[in-house]
Amino acid sequence: MPPRSRSSEVLRPPDAVAQALLGWYRRHRRALPWRRNREPYRVWVAEVLLQQTRVAQAVPYFERFVTEFPTLTELAASPLDRVLKIWQGAGYYARARHLHAAARKLATERGGEMPRTVPELEELPGVGPYIARAVAAIAFDLPVIALEANGLRVAARWTGETDDVRRPEVRARLERTLDAVRHDAPAGEFNEAVMELGETVCGPDRPHCSDCPVSFACRAYRELEDPGALPRRPARRPRPHIRAAVVALIDRRGRWWVQRRAPRGLLGGLWEFPGGKIETGETPVAAARRELREECGLSVRRLEPLGVVRHAYSHFTVELHIFRARTSGRIGTRATSNRRWVTASEWRGLAIPKATEKVARRLARATAGRAFRGSGSHPDRSIASPRTVDRPPRVRAPGPRSRP
Ligand code: ADE
Repeated sequence: MPPRSRSSEVLRPPDAVAQALLGWYRRHRRALPWRRNREPYRVWVAEVLLQQTRVAQAVPYFERFVTEFPTLTELAASPLDRVLKIWQGAGYYARARHLHAAARKLATERGGEMPRTVPELEELPGVGPYIARAVAAIAFDLPVIALEANGLRVAARWTGETDDVRRPEVRARLERTLDAVRHDAPAGEFNEAVMELGETVCGPDRPHCSDCPVSFACRAYRELEDPGALPRRPARRPRPHIRAAVVALIDRRGRWWVQRRAPRGLLGGLWEFPGGKIETGETPVAAARRELREECGLSVRRLEPLGVVRHAYSHFTVELHIFRARTSGRIGTRATSNRRWVTASEWRGLAIPKATEKVARRLARATAGRAFRGSGSHPDRSIASPRTVDRPPRVRAPGPRSRP
């Protein structure tokens, strides 16, 4: 049963709630790497990562990122390709592109200093209201509330909020309520305590109310049979499914032809093999031939099928039908900074989407099967057939001949 009324009033004096929460946080907070200090650049990187990545997954990406780019100035000085490579696997690559663009802007316009107000932070590429407020509160202790998914859930349960928490006016109402609860507690710690509570105690499905330091002030706990029923969740839309054909084009030296995706949009700036969507009514091999013609100006005699790989991204799923084709190396399009032949070691330095990594593994396995093994000078004679490729991977990228 939902709470009888929606309310922004708290059930206990705010100060008591804030003190109970902060006491709990100081005893239970996890030693996360971005909590080692409150350096604004590190706080910002962490918040960008954490907006779409869970804490446990974010930790190694955060460590890798700040090890490679310890300061905003070093991030600004790096080429975007390197930033994308370091971000590889974390997903939502627009986040890395925006971080890089914002770092460059701050390096040129403000000598590498982060702004200290919410409106100025919001002007940076990729910084929306949540990140601006989180950085302002955590790095600068400005008196603001930053509610991400965990905080929204906690706030909705405390106050018995039955409206859709994604609506701006509902979020604003929850922020006001939480700011009243915060009272005069330090904003950075208070915000992190709310997030921590949402991540470790007040989880999405089965909140552990018996471990909650502020259940005494929680309307969902007091009034609902299942406090986990809040916030109300709209039905999820199914993820779109994409069927695509990809062609691993291999030259005489065993190099692979790769192309960079457009800088914006899905997996923007990452490298992949030529290919594209299979149109309705089209067979995978016909799609592969068409894409090869359109993208590389090339018709090949033989397209060898290497099977299908599947991958689930957070917003869509893909199945990639893989084909391998050999060419002399002369194709109908010229190499540029966005498309070129790569050797194995060059491939390893590129930022690659997860599904394309799977394609590369499949290809390397197929190549390791019979390819190149003591078979004279012409690689074509030694290509493994699709039925012989299911062996443990022995090479991870273009065949041994291509290694520099
Ligand atoms: N989720 C978002 N920001 C966070 C933070 N600073 N600590 C833990 N979890 C978070």
